[in-house]
Amino acid sequence: MFVAFPAAATDMDTPVEYTEQERRKILSMTALDSERFLDPTNRFSGNEKAVAFGKLLFFDKRLSDDRTVSCATCHIPKSGWADGKLYASRDGALRQTLTLTNIGYNRWFGWGGSSDSLWAHSLIPIEAPNEVAGSRVQVAVRIQTEKDLYSTYTELFGPIPAEIAPAQLPEQGRPVSRDPDHPLHRQWMALSDSQRRAVDDLFVNVGKAIAAFEATIVSRSSAFDRFAEGLRDDNPSQMAALSTSAQRGLKLFLGKAKCVLCHSGPNFSDGEFHNIYVSRAGEDDYGRWDGVAQVRASSFNFESRHNDARPEQAFPWVRYVTRIPESKYQFKTPTLRDVAQRRSFMHNGRFSTLDEVIDFYDEIDEAKEFQDHEETTLVPIGLSHQEREDLIAFLHSLTDEEAQSELPDL
Ligand code: HEC
Ligand code: HEC
Repeated sequence: MFVAFPAAATDMDTPVEYTEQERRKILSMTALDSERFLDPTNRFSGNEKAVAFGKLLFFDKRLSDDRTVSCATCHIPKSGWADGKLYASRDGALRQTLTLTNIGYNRWFGWGGSSDSLWAHSLIPIEAPNEVAGSRVQVAVRIQTEKDLYSTYTELFGPIPAEIAPAQLPEQGRPVSRDPDHPLHRQWMALSDSQRRAVDDLFVNVGKAIAAFEATIVSRSSAFDRFAEGLRDDNPSQMAALSTSAQRGLKLFLGKAKCVLCHSGPNFSDGEFHNIYVSRAGEDDYGRWDGVAQVRASSFNFESRHNDARPEQAFPWVRYVTRIPESKYQFKTPTLRDVAQRRSFMHNGRFSTLDEVIDFYDEIDEAKEFQDHEETTLVPIGLSHQEREDLIAFLHSLTDEEAQSELPDL
């Protein structure tokens, strides 16, 4: 006798329904502002010439001492603007390259938020010995001795003061606050106050041009966004941009799995810092705890003379930021747009697939063992095999395929 058996495949394709609350949440996660992000602290943001110069510098190895490293060495466009590798940070802890996707939409920069502007953060790698490994004095010399850089720089920023002409400067030099006897620090201090001021001005201009370019790295038009438009317009054929599996994943993201508590808004990030137990025993990277001290001490922060914003234009976050014991082990919530392009995940690169990330969130209690801090929002989810697949399908739907196809192969 033939027994009617509910076919799994048919069940799986049952159209997904949305409550009014879910609908509102979904619409709040789409339509990332199409305007290029304009940063009031950077008067060159949005300036086409600055964008072009910044792009040239980003891919140019001449910012590094031995001319072998550029920003793109680690921020590889087609790998989600990262490389999935670990590098020793200033405190010796290992951190992986952070994505630059939608970087202009961040409030803090770096895994621990050690900068309050994109341009200030773009200067740090130029001088970090394990990143671009240059120095601000060397940048000032190179900008003047490389013909194409010199003409573009002066066209954009005006003439360079004669007191920092290459003949007036050593080859290298930068402040090394932790080690006043460092040769680079001594060379830096051998300059006059006004030479140091002029070098800093030039260096900051370079950072502002690079930041103007970085802010154009935008991912905003994914299958999820086409689906959301369909949901708004009640257009089922457009809603089909998201597979049924990804739609179920979206419901989990908003509901049972609670991802949206932190990965919220059109950039899928609250821009804040959380301890989600990614650090393992023996890892002493304090994340936000160190970031707060660094951003406050930075000579390029919002309080410095290099900030172009008028007081009413931008909120001086850094003036009010303090660290509390809970800041330890907190890291910035990364955007999930284009997340499937990345090669590894979390500040310490702990996971190399999205499957592993989902397993981690699913079994979060095991991760809590070595830290006493209680993050009460994170509890084991209890996902079925199918629910894992659905959540991962949803994460894959956040890639802006068209923007990806236009990126250079590096
Ligand atoms: C050797 C690899 C490497 C190079 C070269 C490099 N970076 Fe990075 N980048 C990193 C790492 C690692 C981080 C995370 C650092 C941290 O949080 O302490 C990062 C973080 C960033 C961030 C913060 C992103 C965010 O979401 O907050 C920006 C901006 C950035 N880099 C810009 C640049 C620029 C501009 C250059 C070139 C001048 C550059 N990087 C060169 C590895 C690199
Ligand atoms: C309590 C806030 C919070 C919740 C809830 C949360 N996340 Fe995260 N997420 C973070 C933070 C913070 C990081 C970075 C942590 C680190 O590196 O130490 C992160 C990192 C990630 C990463 C890695 C991104 C990268 O570039 O390295 C993925 C993927 C991710 N989360 C997906 C999810 C999913 C899926 C859910 C729901 C199951 C979720 N998150 C729930 C805060 C949260």
